[in-house]
Amino acid sequence: MKLKIAVLPGDGIGPEIIDQGVKVTKAIAERFGHEIEFEEALVGATAIDKVGDPFPEETFELCKNSDAVLFGAIGDPKYDNDPKAKVRPEQGLLAMRKKLGLYANVRPVTTFPSLIDKSPIKKELVENVDFVVLRELTGGIYFGEPQGRSEDGKTAYDTNMYHKYEVERIVKLAISYVLKRNKKLTVVDKANVLATSRLWRETAQEIAKEYPELNMDFMFVDNAAMQLIQNPGQFDVMVTENMFGDILTDEASVITGSMGLLPSASIGLLTSVFEPIHGSYPQAAGKNIANPLATILSVAMMFEYAFDLHEEGKLIREAVDKSLEEGYVTEDLPTGNSRSTSEVGDWIEKYIRG
Ligand code: IPM
Ligand code: MN
Repeated sequence: MKLKIAVLPGDGIGPEIIDQGVKVTKAIAERFGHEIEFEEALVGATAIDKVGDPFPEETFELCKNSDAVLFGAIGDPKYDNDPKAKVRPEQGLLAMRKKLGLYANVRPVTTFPSLIDKSPIKKELVENVDFVVLRELTGGIYFGEPQGRSEDGKTAYDTNMYHKYEVERIVKLAISYVLKRNKKLTVVDKANVLATSRLWRETAQEIAKEYPELNMDFMFVDNAAMQLIQNPGQFDVMVTENMFGDILTDEASVITGSMGLLPSASIGLLTSVFEPIHGSYPQAAGKNIANPLATILSVAMMFEYAFDLHEEGKLIREAVDKSLEEGYVTEDLPTGNSRSTSEVGDWIEKYIRG
């Protein structure tokens, strides 16, 4: 296959982990005979520093004209600590999601047998965890207008807004996953308080009528936060709004033992984006210590979701499993013998090359 990948390393540890993702992609391409062209572009704080815009038009054009986007991370403490900053790196991420129409963020949560003991949750509760969260990504309180401050600066407001079509398309996508997995859909909301959540619930109920074989339930988000710890094995596919999904997936990510292991795919109207769910981890930037596995697993998702190349994805997953079994891991997964980001990347690359 001939493919073009837009590479957006971004901020913090972004460049280091993306290097490993690119390395693995190249190894797969050689092994399976694909011709892949990579082109890098600016995003986030790095883009603000260089061209004054966290998602420059050039980056957008490149993403639009590529077969997939491989994305690192965004964020810089210099902006986190300055609430008055006019331009923020995160605006670049939101602009990318909006402009590419990436309405669904797919975050699979699976445990790795060799890491069960590293989970903060009891072994018997995490053993069979295997679920997917579909987070709505281009609506809700992240994008609702108005957002701002009163003139005297003493009041601030955000708007949580959803249109029916936004709920319909992600619920339908979630159902397509459920049908493939053949189990259960949990719609997470706060319908006892929020109007937007009542729209979600009503819409999901209407759609569900078309799928009598579907096993669908509803769960309030506060309860879901608790159930994720108390009984994570009960979930199969969860679908939820933007902000609930943001919070619940950070929580879900540590069930596996490290946030550095959770990949994601953002899919929608134009090119899909593949990125680790962890952030830019600025404290580790440049130290070659960050876990590259979430990025490498995002590369696996890219082959599977964007290119429909499943053997390729499978080999990447196998390599990741083997590196974990061997204890060839970064310091967030303590084994007493931590490897660097690039050492783990090299190990996986070598495994793939065979
Ligand atoms: C994520 C991140 C982003 C979000 C931030 C960096 C804006 O936390 O992708 O989950 O909140 O969506
Ligand atoms: Mn988040």
